[in-house]
Amino acid sequence: AKNVGILAFDIYFPPSYVQQEALEAHDGASKGKYTIGLGQDSMAFCTELEDVISMSLTVVKSLLEKYEIDPKQIGRLEVGSETVIDKSKSIKTFLMQIFEKYGNSDIEGVDSTNACYGGTAALFNCVNWVESSSWDGRYGLVVCTDSAVYAEGPARPTGGAAAIAMLIGPDAPIAFESKLRGSHMSHVYDFYKPNLASEYPVVDGKLSQTCYLMALDSCYKNFSHKYEKLHGKQFFISDADYVLFHSPYNKLVQKSFARLVFNDYLKNSSSLDEAAKEKLEPFSTLSGDESYQSRDLEKASQQVAKPLYDAKVQPTTLLPKTVGNMYTASLYAAFVSLIHNKHSTLANNRVILFSYGSGLTATMFSLRLHDGQHPFTLSNIAKVMDVGGKLKSRHEVTPEKFIETLKLMEERYGAKDFVTSKDTSLLSPGTFYLTEVDSMYRRFYATK
Ligand code: ACO
Repeated sequence: AKNVGILAFDIYFPPSYVQQEALEAHDGASKGKYTIGLGQDSMAFCTELEDVISMSLTVVKSLLEKYEIDPKQIGRLEVGSETVIDKSKSIKTFLMQIFEKYGNSDIEGVDSTNACYGGTAALFNCVNWVESSSWDGRYGLVVCTDSAVYAEGPARPTGGAAAIAMLIGPDAPIAFESKLRGSHMSHVYDFYKPNLASEYPVVDGKLSQTCYLMALDSCYKNFSHKYEKLHGKQFFISDADYVLFHSPYNKLVQKSFARLVFNDYLKNSSSLDEAAKEKLEPFSTLSGDESYQSRDLEKASQQVAKPLYDAKVQPTTLLPKTVGNMYTASLYAAFVSLIHNKHSTLANNRVILFSYGSGLTATMFSLRLHDGQHPFTLSNIAKVMDVGGKLKSRHEVTPEKFIETLKLMEERYGAKDFVTSKDTSLLSPGTFYLTEVDSMYRRFYATK
């Protein structure tokens, strides 16, 4: 199989959202802290009607219908998620409800979990399967689904929720450059979920930011090294048309891109113009540790990187800023944003992706874009996803109502014997929703 990669995308996010500006005021944070400080506009969240299972049912059904894929043609289904509803039964098995109806139970794959990295692990599994000798000629399907919620405090505005589905196969408009991958994996406690009675993570915010940047540096070095071996020349950010990041909040993406530009400067200062060199020169002798702590370096490199950021990163930030951190789906929501904004000009472009999951696991990898063949063309993908329409039909909720919802969800987490609200008015037709959890903790879903 050649040009294996992503044939099609679809995305679902909940219709309820809170404005960061309103949340900021409600929380008593200083004006601009969430919007400029974190760089976020608004945040989607699940009400009692939705969870990671309902969202993934919705997005899988929608992808199959909109691209007219026969459910019998799916041979592997992999889910990435860090939202634990059941410690044994995979989300994948819930999705089998869709396929069993069509007589297809012959589908490999289960769930992958490591914080925000599970979706990338799932994607690699599916791509590797299509490239392998055990491939049976059918499609792979990857689902990234998460509901990101935090306890009251500074991390709360960095939540979000969504599910993304990706159809995998050969001759893809979004093809892997499989040899170009650099990873960094290590044992740290930056963000983890040891309390099995709570949906909330334990998070060391400052450490998680530094871990993210260290993993980025390391992945970029490994990635560049492989590029050099393959192509016989150094890799620079100018070799990528777009750079996509896992996006916990936009400010970290701005800092991360600037960090890559600083890496290019350290690798070969002649990759930058004179003015940029002059700005970065004072930091050329900092040790690694010092460089992660230096606010002056952060500022100078962000300044130098700004025009490149506007061209190569800004078009990827729409959904991460307006839906929030979607954990496993965040990186792929950046991709969805890029296709939404630039579908007609992306052919032949190279896109570099950085996937990060706390704990920690991280990979940088490369994809090549092609026009593709109907229905798997970049412009059809943009049309099917209808990001603009989906954003327009959302409903703003007050911070008070958002917090009330989170309280109810705290009680519901791990609970049994309850039915959910009958009011499904905010859901659009075709959306799956949770109706009941019975006395045996079995979950039941219906479609609007
Ligand atoms: N106007 C403009 N900017 C402001 C204002 C204001 N009024 N007030 C603060 N800021 C800026 C700060 O200067 C800072 O920006 P800077 O780093 O560029 O200086 C930014 O807002 C954040 O403020 P801090 O006080 O530094 O941090 P805070 O206590 O709000 O916590 C954090 C932020 C750590 C990101 C927290 O939200 C968190 O823990 N989130 C979850 C963990 C996370 O997302 N980690 C990332 C990788 S791991 C993952 O994906 C889960």
